[in-house]
Amino acid sequence: MLAIIGGTGLTQMPGVEVLAEHSATTPLGEASSPVIEARLQGQRLLFLARHGHPHQLPPHKINYRANLLALKAAGATQILAINAVGGLDPKQGLASLVLPHQIIDYTWGRESTFYDGDYLPLEHIDFTHPYSVELSERLLAAAQQAGVQLYQGGVYGATQGPRLETAAEIRRMAQDGCTLVGMTGMPEAALAKELAFPYACLAIIVNPAAGLGEEEITLQQMQGALSQGVDQVMTLINALLR
Ligand code: HPA
Repeated sequence: MLAIIGGTGLTQMPGVEVLAEHSATTPLGEASSPVIEARLQGQRLLFLARHGHPHQLPPHKINYRANLLALKAAGATQILAINAVGGLDPKQGLASLVLPHQIIDYTWGRESTFYDGDYLPLEHIDFTHPYSVELSERLLAAAQQAGVQLYQGGVYGATQGPRLETAAEIRRMAQDGCTLVGMTGMPEAALAKELAFPYACLAIIVNPAAGLGEEEITLQQMQGALSQGVDQVMTLINALLR
């Protein structure tokens, strides 16, 4: 069963028929919200609001481990993560949708593994390819079918937040090869890999990264691109399930 982790701007799934609500309580604490089981296009799917519903948890306080355990307990077999991001590639404008293929983790101090020697004995998982190629390809096919523009490939730089970056931090990230910057891509992707979930990220560009735009970055400015992007995301998810 496909699970959607909704980010900023997607705390509820529009147009779905809600069937059940699964517990947010896990052996590793409370997930951000209960897992909603719903029907869309005649198919069952799961939804979890990453920041809670209504939006409240800052990126560094999200219990990513509990979120993934709650999805697993509810019967998820694959995960599509939706993430609002800043864009570093000037060719990708506001409200663009991007499927990154790589991640660089700049976060710190987050509970970032199940293999911590407490919950599970230490193990080092392979994380060469953080995202599922198969799920990404299905998304690309669905985008083509639905006439949604979707950029294939990108490097997601995950920052700690909740503040945005400095212009120099973004220049450094660009030198590192990042094309997108967000605060919630990690440790979520690594935890999904540890649980062997096929996992893909659908990033919505809601602002030019710091120092690359003309104006100060404001939440208000992000909102417009976000709602446009979320509409496209829903079109894409509908096509994926068809
Ligand atoms: N930086 C980090 N996270 C973000 C941004 C950004 O510019 N925009 C949306 N999430």
